[in-house]
Amino acid sequence: MRGLQGMVCLIAGGGSGIGAATARRVAAEGGLVAIGDLNLEKAEGTADEIVKSGGVALALDYDQSEEKSVVALVSRTVEHFGRLDGLHGNAADLSPATLGEDRNLLKMDPEVWMKTLATNLVGNAILVRECLPHLLENGGGPVVLTSSSVSASGEPTRPAYASSKAGLNALVRHIASKWGKQGIRANAVSPGLVLSQAAQEMSEDWFLDKSLAQIRSHRLGVPEDVAATVAFLLSDDAAWVNGQVWGVDGGHVLRD
Ligand SMILES: NC(=O)c1ccc[n+]([C@@H]2O[C@H](COP(=O)([O-])OP(=O)(O)OC[C@H]3O[C@@H](n4cnc5c(N)ncnc54)[C@H](O)[C@@H]3O)[C@@H](O)[C@H]2O)c1
Repeated sequence: MRGLQGMVCLIAGGGSGIGAATARRVAAEGGLVAIGDLNLEKAEGTADEIVKSGGVALALDYDQSEEKSVVALVSRTVEHFGRLDGLHGNAADLSPATLGEDRNLLKMDPEVWMKTLATNLVGNAILVRECLPHLLENGGGPVVLTSSSVSASGEPTRPAYASSKAGLNALVRHIASKWGKQGIRANAVSPGLVLSQAAQEMSEDWFLDKSLAQIRSHRLGVPEDVAATVAFLLSDDAAWVNGQVWGVDGGHVLRD
């Protein structure tokens, strides 16, 4: 893909699953990746794998629910590589204590909503706030945020999670509208059920079967399916894609 060679890209939430697959894909295309994650061991594992394959990667620990930590992630990335050319904001709180308790609005615990929004939405907004000045310094650059098909599909459960992802869809439209003329491209990928280890651990067989029945494709997704789209949106080949939410969901949500 054009433009990824030599690109310094921060992948926030890149220790495992979709983020790790994106880090591997961007690095394979010649990009230099900073991999931020709450789980430093996983970020280091992904970075080591990339370096062993001849790529360039740096692992950094951070917590997307903490403003100071997000600020430090971006400054450490820029300190190390000397610049920043692209961002993939991918982290979300998928823990049993948060996502696992996000079931029924009538029994909602506001704390679960606050934790969900703090990491998934506010954390991404802070991440973009910190990255934008660096991208603008270079004359622009791409931002890709990981949303979810449940932001549009109307699941009967996980209302806080779906709302946080719908917020990201609005956020990329805002970023594109405000800074598009200065060369910023902001898009979201909206995955359907993707068989990352995290998703497999939290999905029982009946749910996997139901998810497969709901989509048009013949199989569920794998992290590499989403990584390929993120890499494209980060690349110059997507130069005229801006302010969009791209479904990467095997045809779960159909839209114009
Ligand atoms: N797998 C799916 O079916 C699916 C579907 C739609 C959307 N998504 C989205 O894709 C993204 C990746 O999901 P995945 O399935 O690859 O799961 P994953 O658990 O492998 O990836 C999430 C990463 O974010 C990190 N993280 C969690 N909380 C963090 C925090 N506070 N600060 C920094 N890092 C943090 C985790 O350590 C992990 O490495 C998430 O945003 C998720 O909402 C996944």
